[in-house]
Amino acid sequence: MKRNNKEIPSVIGHAIVSSNFCIADSQGNMPESLKSDIDWNMFQSDLDKSDLVILGRKSFEKYPDSKRFRLVPTASLSGYLKEEDLIFFNPKDISIRQILTTLDLFPKKIAIAGGRLVYELVFKDFFYTEFHLSIKSNLVMPNGIPVLNGVENIIQFTQRMNANNMIQNQNLFLDKDTIQIRFQSV
Ligand SMILES: NC(=O)c1ccc[n+]([C@@H]2O[C@H](COP(=O)([O-])OP(=O)(O)OC[C@H]3O[C@@H](n4cnc5c(N)ncnc54)[C@H](OP(=O)(O)O)[C@@H]3O)[C@@H](O)[C@H]2O)c1
Repeated sequence: MKRNNKEIPSVIGHAIVSSNFCIADSQGNMPESLKSDIDWNMFQSDLDKSDLVILGRKSFEKYPDSKRFRLVPTASLSGYLKEEDLIFFNPKDISIRQILTTLDLFPKKIAIAGGRLVYELVFKDFFYTEFHLSIKSNLVMPNGIPVLNGVENIIQFTQRMNANNMIQNQNLFLDKDTIQIRFQSV
């Protein structure tokens, strides 16, 4: 099966959430208590193996000097702007798929690092082949930023995945407070 006359890439969404399914607190920050060393190492390892990372402009600004090849949506420009190892683009003007066709090499492996609007954009504009969701069971973040619009628990998250033809296929116990649930496209 081909999409856009290219091989289908692996597209993996990555998120770590509190027990109420938030990726950041009410101030938009990611507290240390939301991290798990094992999750972080697995996440970094997947990013290292990816040809391209898609992440939001705010997340990009936290790690602007990374040498990874990144695609960053923003409403602050028209069209797209290519720099070395970095492309800013406005999804209102150009789709992810159109951007990928401008590249010399079509990426075989793409990581989606979030945040919320980016996870939603990939559902709307592109697709996932997998989603790796880590849940910190010992942390609640009242009024935080949800991982997906209107999602506060595993039932709602699973419903969104299922609605996009993705099913739960693996649970990994990362540490005493953190479980990773993996979804795969069918
Ligand atoms: N726990 C996790 O797994 C996880 C994952 C990712 C991020 N985070 C944390 O979450 C916080 C930030 O997350 P966030 O969701 O607020 O921000 P974000 O996704 O990092 O960045 C949001 C920005 O990206 C741009 N953007 C995203 N989608 C767009 C679209 N469809 N069209 C146009 N522009 C788009 C906009 O930039 P402009 O304002 O320039 O238009 C928007 O303001 C940070 O603390 C970060 O560390 C946590």
